[in-house]
Amino acid sequence: MMLPARHLLAIEGLHQTAIAGLLDLAESYLLLNRSGKTQRDLLKGRTLINLFFEDSTRTRTSFELAGKRLGADVINMSVSTSSVNKGETLLDTAATLNAMNCDLLVVRHGQSGAPALLAQKVDAAVINAGDGTHEHPTQALLDALTIRRAKGRIEGLTVAICGDVAHSRVARSNLHCLTALNARVRLIGPPTLMPAEVARLGAEVFHDMAEGLKGADVVMMLRLQRERMSGGQVPSAREFFRFYGLDAQKLGLAAPDAIVMHPGPMNRGVEIDSAVADDPARSVIAEQVEMGVAVRMAVLDILARQQPRLA
Ligand code: NCD
Repeated sequence: MMLPARHLLAIEGLHQTAIAGLLDLAESYLLLNRSGKTQRDLLKGRTLINLFFEDSTRTRTSFELAGKRLGADVINMSVSTSSVNKGETLLDTAATLNAMNCDLLVVRHGQSGAPALLAQKVDAAVINAGDGTHEHPTQALLDALTIRRAKGRIEGLTVAICGDVAHSRVARSNLHCLTALNARVRLIGPPTLMPAEVARLGAEVFHDMAEGLKGADVVMMLRLQRERMSGGQVPSAREFFRFYGLDAQKLGLAAPDAIVMHPGPMNRGVEIDSAVADDPARSVIAEQVEMGVAVRMAVLDILARQQPRLA
């Protein structure tokens, strides 16, 4: 299979067949990982740099693990956001990375579009690991793989994405990914945390959680991203939980076999109650993390194969 570009910067614009191809490859890596076999020759001699300008636990660790499982040399660079002058530092950093002959560059940045800017300046294949409120493509891919494995399909499912949609790159990437795969997407949240532009991307918007959850096959909760909020946008945690937090009672409105997802990190008692987050019959939150490694192995593999320098 092939991806249309040298980099993975967004899900928007990816065709259904490219997404399905990535999920199939990820699934083969999942089975390999579970069987304890390794594939350490695939990225042997290649350098993967994790460049994180924002905090991360799952994403950075799983890219590191994915790279190592495929035999790459993995370097983690953590950069504190507060101390950098974005434009200048990014371009300086690009020059440094080029001099190091980095093959694969995984970038997380607080500014939407920063990975795309870097991609113009480096020889490496760039993977967006989350940029501002824009996109987080590998998260959407791991979510799609989790759904596909739990439900056997994605087409025709109703997926409710709930909470702080406005600040969520996870929501945006999932919206593109799930609609490309012919799922129905509902977005649920207070008007203050619901950007106007999402409705025109083909989602149904709900401000009443009970309405939005009705009959949903998948309930995906989002973290309340206070670090991206200003003044009046910040609701009190208690109030938010009452109207938009997922508990067993609200989950009862979804389909009887609905699964519960959360990209992490979770704020228990703010957007999700522990009783549902930790319910093994409904929650696939741990599976999402496992799929994250497999999906990132697939992405690294495909982009390395497509890189002219590596061919
Ligand atoms: C998300 C992110 O960073 O966009 N986390 C993740 O990658 N699993 C979601 C979040 O921060 O709430």
